[in-house]
Amino acid sequence: MKTTEDMHRETMEYQTLHNGVRMPAAGFGTWDVRGTAGENIIRMALDTGYRLIDTAQMYDNEEIVGKAVRESGIPRRDIFVTTKLSRPCATEEETARSIASSLQRLGLDYVDLLLIHEPYRASVTMYRAMEKAYEQGLARAIGISNFLPVPFQRLLQNCRIIPMVNQIESHVYYMQLDQRDLLEKAGTKMQAWASFTEGRKPIFTDPLLNDIARRYGRTAAQIALRYQLQNGIMVIPKTAHRERMEENLNVFDFILQPEDMRLIGILDQGRSLFNWYGDDWM
Ligand SMILES: NC(=O)c1ccc[n+]([C@@H]2O[C@H](COP(=O)([O-])OP(=O)(O)OC[C@H]3O[C@@H](n4cnc5c(N)ncnc54)[C@H](OP(=O)(O)O)[C@@H]3O)[C@@H](O)[C@H]2O)c1
Repeated sequence: MKTTEDMHRETMEYQTLHNGVRMPAAGFGTWDVRGTAGENIIRMALDTGYRLIDTAQMYDNEEIVGKAVRESGIPRRDIFVTTKLSRPCATEEETARSIASSLQRLGLDYVDLLLIHEPYRASVTMYRAMEKAYEQGLARAIGISNFLPVPFQRLLQNCRIIPMVNQIESHVYYMQLDQRDLLEKAGTKMQAWASFTEGRKPIFTDPLLNDIARRYGRTAAQIALRYQLQNGIMVIPKTAHRERMEENLNVFDFILQPEDMRLIGILDQGRSLFNWYGDDWM
C-alpha cells in the first residue's frame, strides 16, 4: 500500500536548473527552527515527504539540518539541501573557508544549492569562490538570494556561471513577476521566501483565497502556494506542525483555472512587506 510520503513523492514537480540539476518545486524552510525541537521538526518534514531543506549560516541550524538528513535513512542523492553564505567575505580564500565551515557543520560532502544570502560589497569575489566550489563538486548548483535588478545585473556581467537560482521575497501580495521574468531571461530560476508573508498579513483568512479554496476543496495556504507554483515560482514554506507540512506539500494534484489565477493576481500590491533592504541590495 502506498504511504502519503510515496504519494507526495510521485506528485512532486521539479524545476530543471540550467546545468540539468533537478530541484523540487516545493521544499521546507527552516528559519527559526533550532535545537532538539527543531531537529525533530526537520525529521518530521523529511518523514512527511519533503525532499528539499532550506537552511543558511544565519539560521544557526546547519548542524541539526545535516544530522536530520544524514540520519533520515533516505539516500543522500534524494535530498536537496540548500545553504546560504550569510556573512560577507572579503576574499576568495575567506569565502572558501566559509563554504568549508558550512559543509563541516552540515556533516555533508556537498550541498545541492549554495547561495549568497544577500548582496554584499564583495559579492562578485564571493561568487568566484562559489564557482570554484561548484567545479570542485562541493555544490551541485550555485546562486543568490535577495539580488534585485542592480546587483543581479552586476553579478551577471562578472560571473562565469550564470546563477542557477535567486531566492527572493514572494507571496500573493507581492509576487515579483517582473523579477521572475528578468531572471528567466538570464536562465535563473526564482524561489520564493515568505510564501505566507511570515505572518505580516492574515493570508490564511484572506476572503478571496478562502472563497477559491472552498471551491477546490482546499485551504487558503494551498491556494497561495499553488498560485506561486503555477507562476513558475518554487516555494519553501516553514511550519512546525505535521498536518500543515502535509497540507503545504499536497499542492500538486490540482490546477487553478485561468479565471482564478487572474482573481488571485489582483491581490498583488506590488510592494514589499519587509523593509530590511540594505544599500547593497539596490
Ligand atoms: N533568503 C532569505 O533572505 C530568506 C528570508 C526569509 C525566509 N527564508 C526562507 O524561507 C522560508 C519560509 O519563510 P518563513 O519561514 O520566513 O515564513 P513563511 O513560510 O511565509 O511563514 C511561516 C509561518 O506560517 C505558518 N504556517 C505555515 N504553514 C501553515 C499553514 N498551512 N496554515 C497556517 N499557518 C501556517 C507557520 O506557523 P507554524 O510553524 O506554527 O505552523 C509560520 O508561522 C524560511 O523558513 C527560510 O528557509 C529566506
